[in-house]
Amino acid sequence: MGVFASTDQQVSAGHEQVVFCQDKPTGLKAIIGIYSTALGPALGGTRFYPYASEADALHDVLELSRGMAYKNALAGLDLGGGKAVIWGDPDQLKTEPLLRAYGRFVQSLGGRYYTACDVGTYVQDMDVVARETRFVTGRSVEHGGAGDSSVLTAWGVFQGMRAAAEHQWGSATLGGRRIGVSGLGKVGKHLVGHLIEDGATVVATDVNEKALEWVRHTYPEVDLVADATALITSDIDVYAPCALGGALDDETVPALRATIVVGAANNQLAHPGIEKQLADRGVLYAPDYVVNAGGVIQVADEIEGFNFERAKLRATRIFDTTREILRLADAEGVPPAVAADRLAERRMAEVGRLRSIHLT
Ligand SMILES: NC(=O)c1ccc[n+]([C@@H]2O[C@H](COP(=O)([O-])OP(=O)(O)OC[C@H]3O[C@@H](n4cnc5c(N)ncnc54)[C@H](O)[C@@H]3O)[C@@H](O)[C@H]2O)c1
Repeated sequence: MGVFASTDQQVSAGHEQVVFCQDKPTGLKAIIGIYSTALGPALGGTRFYPYASEADALHDVLELSRGMAYKNALAGLDLGGGKAVIWGDPDQLKTEPLLRAYGRFVQSLGGRYYTACDVGTYVQDMDVVARETRFVTGRSVEHGGAGDSSVLTAWGVFQGMRAAAEHQWGSATLGGRRIGVSGLGKVGKHLVGHLIEDGATVVATDVNEKALEWVRHTYPEVDLVADATALITSDIDVYAPCALGGALDDETVPALRATIVVGAANNQLAHPGIEKQLADRGVLYAPDYVVNAGGVIQVADEIEGFNFERAKLRATRIFDTTREILRLADAEGVPPAVAADRLAERRMAEVGRLRSIHLT
């Protein structure tokens, strides 16, 4: 791998440490990015993905690890931000030796980085990685892990949505509102349940027939529409992107009828500047990395020995964090995404500084 070509990118991205790992016999090529350990060991998942180039893999790990530092800071965790990418097609490359080789590289960092699942890696993979390193979370229930993180992700998104409703309409409920959910996967399905229980009506879409069938069967009262365009142009109060990234772009924002956007998908803003377009249209956008932190809260809890109720309580606090960010955004006259970044940076600086107090 072209390790040296990468130094400039690392420095400009402000990362503490970027580690290139290679094990030729298994075909492992991985990059571990540690953005910040100001609040504690860096936590973030491992993405196993067939990037077109090493530069693409590096770009992704730098972006993702930085994002994790902000997400973990705002989730109130004593954890910094990191992420790893394994460059290659998981269907072709993923083997026990490769995952274990990767685990040994994670172990070599001595606890500066904790890994977990992400796109292309699953709880069973973390069980294999864990045979070589202690610094892994997001494991299967059989191995003392927390299992599927989408349960608390959906719970946290629901809390963020309640806070947005309170800010916009004066009452922290979705009761009587119409919510458009795009993506009825692991998170979207749980979210629909919380919304219906709260008295909302739901309109939804998915590209997967099985997901649609599940909703027809479980929640026959949910209206289904053909695609995301039909969803956002329908008469909805809240838009919840729960599929892929980039849901909010130059086409969707002007067409949006909802006045609140809160969803689980990562990287909902297609490019910088979209947050301003939303604010100019009077659309309240609660930043994705704030409201979708329930999953990382769940896997972080596993490091202490998983306790569902404790983790749920922490995820419930996403309500307070979202409320505080929206208040700060108004007070400082900036979009919530900017207020969230400021709050995260403040916590990293203020709490991180305490390490200068020497302890023996
Ligand atoms: N699972 C978690 O704990 C977690 C945590 C944080 C963030 N997220 C993010 O939330 C989002 C959803 O996660 P998930 O775990 O539910 O994933 P998932 O793969 O289970 O579900 C995604 C769903 O979106 C659907 N979809 C894909 N393209 C679509 C399109 N164009 N229009 C409508 N639907 C489409 C898929 O068919 C699938 O049903 C992802 O962006 C993920 O990165 C998930």
